[in-house]
Amino acid sequence: MMPIYLDHASTTPVHPEVATAMQEAMLNFTANPSSTHSFGRAAKQKLESVRRACAASIGANHKQIVFTSGGTEADNLAIFGAAAAQEKKGRHLITTAIEHHAVLRSFAALEAEGWEVTYIRPDSNGFVSAHQVLAAVRPDTVLVSMMLANNETGMMQPIPDIAQGLLNHEALLHTDAVQAYTLLPIDVEALGVDLMSVSAHKINGPGGVGFLYVKEPMNIQPRMFGGYQERKHRAGTENMPGLCGLQKAVELATKEDKLSKLAVLKEGFLEALKAEGIHFEINGDLANSLPSISNLYFPGVRSDQLLMNLDLEGVAASSGSACTAGTFEPSHVLMAMYPENPERASQSIRFSFGHMMMQEEIQRAAQITARIIRTRF
Ligand SMILES: Cc1ncc(COP(=O)(O)O)c(C=O)c1O
Repeated sequence: MMPIYLDHASTTPVHPEVATAMQEAMLNFTANPSSTHSFGRAAKQKLESVRRACAASIGANHKQIVFTSGGTEADNLAIFGAAAAQEKKGRHLITTAIEHHAVLRSFAALEAEGWEVTYIRPDSNGFVSAHQVLAAVRPDTVLVSMMLANNETGMMQPIPDIAQGLLNHEALLHTDAVQAYTLLPIDVEALGVDLMSVSAHKINGPGGVGFLYVKEPMNIQPRMFGGYQERKHRAGTENMPGLCGLQKAVELATKEDKLSKLAVLKEGFLEALKAEGIHFEINGDLANSLPSISNLYFPGVRSDQLLMNLDLEGVAASSGSACTAGTFEPSHVLMAMYPENPERASQSIRFSFGHMMMQEEIQRAAQITARIIRTRF
């Protein structure tokens, strides 16, 4: 039996056309794009076409795209870069308790440097309201960072409402769109953000590549120093194969209706589990979550044991929590959603789907999950 991969929120498989584009880039663009000779100019031209494609995919200008080594670096550049540039205006920052660690640990590092950070808690659906965020804004707030959709529950967050509420305030708005990019239609102007992070490996592109949308270049300071690449915002020779892979991934992802394909897969999975008579609850609100992610609570079923059993049967899923040095850390997102029921975080599993999957795989994965729960717990 072919193994079934239900961990697309962690990373997606590289699309074969992306792999081809990367191989061609390695063979064809052999020079440094900063070199002034003809080889360098050819690489530079290609680099700028990648930049235009990324910009077009979010309704931005190509000058507003800063290439990075992925979502983590884009988040770090947004947060540390904005904090450094805005420092004279105030030292208060706002984020939420359900952010990815790339965001949370950046804020923790700033806290250690003396910045004041307000962490907004979600409701039991994993939703953070615009009202809660805006109520925390103070005259000395310089940055609000909130994800567009959560990577553990898929819950979409009200970024346009927050942008609206910040119209008469100088605070910058950053959103981590790593999970939402190419699933939700994104127009940065309509969204109203100043900074937005994207990563290639969540859209069938390569790992280690991404970009940060920067509305006003003056609003951030660089965190990497060296050459003058990326209009002085991010030093370092560009990753040409990775960026060519990103361009192909963007092209493929934006021409497909991934959303409806994923919605059918997610619904099929939940229906199949119900048909098997398995008791579960959804962590989050089905109507307001990405169709790529289904985070489920199986009362009385330890997620580490279920994951191990699933893996033995060829089904790859995740608990959405970090496994560091052999210790099992319950998800900070679920802990924030259910503070009165900490058990729930260690009895929940994240299944995440890819638009290239077949319904048959989804059905089989649900049956295997149900059989394991029935017979081993
Ligand atoms: C919401 C979110 N932000 C940031 C990241 C980090 O992106 P990258 O793996 O490209 O560094 C991830 C990856 O899991 C993510 O899901």
